[in-house]
Formats: sequence, structure tokens, C-alpha cells
Amino acid sequence: MAASPAERMSRRYSRRTVEVRDPHAELLADFRAGMLEAPRSLPPKYFYDARGSALFDAICDTPEYYPTRLEASLLERNAAAIIEAAGADTLVELGSGTSRKTEYLLAPLERAAGEESLYVANDVCPEILDEAGERLLERFPGLTIHALAGDYGAALEALRADGAAGQDGARLFTFLGSSLGNFEDPEAIELLRAIRRTMGSDDHLLLGLDRVKPVDVLEAAYDDAAGVTAAFNLNLLSVLNRELGADFDERGFRHRAPFNHEESRIEMHLVAQVSQKVRVEAFATTLELEAGEVIRTEISRKFDAKMIDRLLSASGLRREREWLAGDGWYSLLMLRPDPAG
Ligand code: SAH
Ligand code: TRP
Repeated sequence: MAASPAERMSRRYSRRTVEVRDPHAELLADFRAGMLEAPRSLPPKYFYDARGSALFDAICDTPEYYPTRLEASLLERNAAAIIEAAGADTLVELGSGTSRKTEYLLAPLERAAGEESLYVANDVCPEILDEAGERLLERFPGLTIHALAGDYGAALEALRADGAAGQDGARLFTFLGSSLGNFEDPEAIELLRAIRRTMGSDDHLLLGLDRVKPVDVLEAAYDDAAGVTAAFNLNLLSVLNRELGADFDERGFRHRAPFNHEESRIEMHLVAQVSQKVRVEAFATTLELEAGEVIRTEISRKFDAKMIDRLLSASGLRREREWLAGDGWYSLLMLRPDPAG
């Protein structure tokens, strides 16, 4: 019997969980390490429950958040050349989110590789993977999608375990949205090295990095007038309430996003407006926050050429090409494993 359209679609989309550790145990460990005493902070990935992912998508549409538009225009203009230079039939994306910008790359990929074209999308948010997958299957009838739900590191490990099963062409890895900038040097280098370890000698990495620019532009991008970024930042508290049985009150906190010149990064803060007690059932404990106390929820580093050079050489990657958006405000880098690195 002929396969129904739905069956044909489902053969072209699969999602598996690649997480090696139990995500709840990991949140417990991260909360214990970062939140039990001041200065308090959490790693970035906990923003992205289904609501957080929808809010991030809305951030990308705010007039202040320039990175998405700059990166999209670089991709739109150069996608065909990128896919040709990569000689790829497979695109592997870390932190794919809605995959909207990725469509610029998938179009020439599908044109070149037809039914052989494969998109491996990784994200910590399973809902956004399914939603993007459904849209992409409609738009790209030749494309097969393997979604990997879990952490960047777990996805890379799964890819190394799989090998380049069944694909003939090279792979293009992408890490867009300046998501690398959400990590300090040691973790950023570890992550780039893990990508490099997963790449074959013919593979490329397309890396999007945000650049230093006037501070008013930076600060507005992370504190938009409509308050979408504030809602995104505050949503982290409801993730903690749900996952840890905590009772953070969003009304007791304000979103702040100052540029830290010394470290060349935007820092996302939740600032306690009054002194308060927060019950956290998972730890059978009560946090005492003082008025004005800061929870640092995110960093977003802003790179210059020197910082980029240092990161790449520490990670064993070499630049093949770099595209810069207007005034050097955003970088798209085409990288290869450095055989000597
Ligand atoms: N690439 C998209 C989305 C960037 S936002 C763009 O450029 O617009 C970051 C994305 O990475 C989100 O979709 C988030 O769910 C995902 N993410 C965050 N931390 C992650 C991690 N540690 N491992 C895998 N995905 C992660
Ligand atoms: N990778 C994005 C960036 O650094 C993530 C991001 C954008 C973000 N806006 C945010 C993270 C607001 C936390 C809060 O630009």
C-alpha cells in the first residue's frame, strides 16, 4: 500500500534524546553550585522551556535585537557560496531553535544534494525541534531531518558514536546566533574542541559571533522597550519554580542588562527589588536574598578580532573565510579543523 503523506513525512523526521546525564540531576547540580549563596548565577540553557523558546523567538523580532537580522542578511547573501565551498550534503546545527535563518542554507543544500540532503538539528528544547521540523519538511520536500534533543556536548558525542553513517558528502556544522558568546573562555574552547573532534577533515564549521559596538546599541538589544527580553529573563524563575518546587515571585525581581567593559560582555541580571526569602523544596532550604542582590543569568560576549583569533587557535580551528556585517557589527566565520591544532 502506498504511504500516506503523513507517513512519508514521518519517515523524513525523527527525534531522539541524546542527553547522557539526567537533566533534572544536572539542574540540581548547577543550582547547588551557583545559587545557594551570593554571588548567584546559573548556566544559560535553563531559559529554554517551551515558553522560553517562544519568547526568544519574539526577542529576535524586536527592533533592538540586531544580531538576528545581521546574521540573516549575511546568510541570505552568502548561503549558496557557503554550501558550495563546503561541498556538503549534511548540515549539523547546534542550538538550532526555530531554524529560521538556517532555511537560507537548507535551500542550496537541498538543491545540490536533493534526496540525499540531511539536516541534523540539535537543541535542548524538544518542542522547538518538532515545531521547526514540521515547517521544514513542508518547505523542503527532499530533506531528511534528524533532531537530537539535548545538550551541545551530548549531541556531539552521539554524532561521534554514529560516524558519518550513509552520507557521501562532507558536513557543514553551524553554530549561529553568537551562542558561543554565552560561555566564558574555558567552556567556549572546550565546546569548539568538541566540535572539532567531531568533524572530519573535509568538514566545515560556520560560526556566527557578535562584535563589539557602541554600548547603547548593545544594552538596548538586551533590554528592548516592549519588555520581551525582560519576560524571557524572568521566565527562568518559573522554570526554577516548576523544576525545583521553588516559590520565586517574578514581581520581586527586575531585569537588567549592563555592558561589562572589562569583560567585553553583556550580563543578564535579575535584581531582587526587596529583601526576600525563597523556598526551594528540592533542597529543603530557604534562600535569603537582600534588596539589590543580583542573580546573573547569562553572559553574552562581544568579540573583537583578537579575541576571535585566540579562541580559534586555542581550539584547533583555522579561518577559511570571514564575512562581516555593516560596520563590522557581526562576524560569520567559515572554519576548518587545523591539522596542526
Ligand atoms: N540558532 C538560533 C537560536 C539561538 S538561541 C538563532 O541563531 O537564532 C539558543 C538556542 O540554543 C535555543 O534554541 C536553545 O534552546 C538552545 N540551547 C541553549 N543552550 C543549549 C545547550 N547547552 N545545548 C543545546 N542547545 C542549547
Ligand atoms: N545567543 C544570544 C545572544 O547572546 C542569546 C540571547 C539573546 C539572550 N538575548 C538574550 C540570552 C537575552 C538571555 C537573555 O545574543
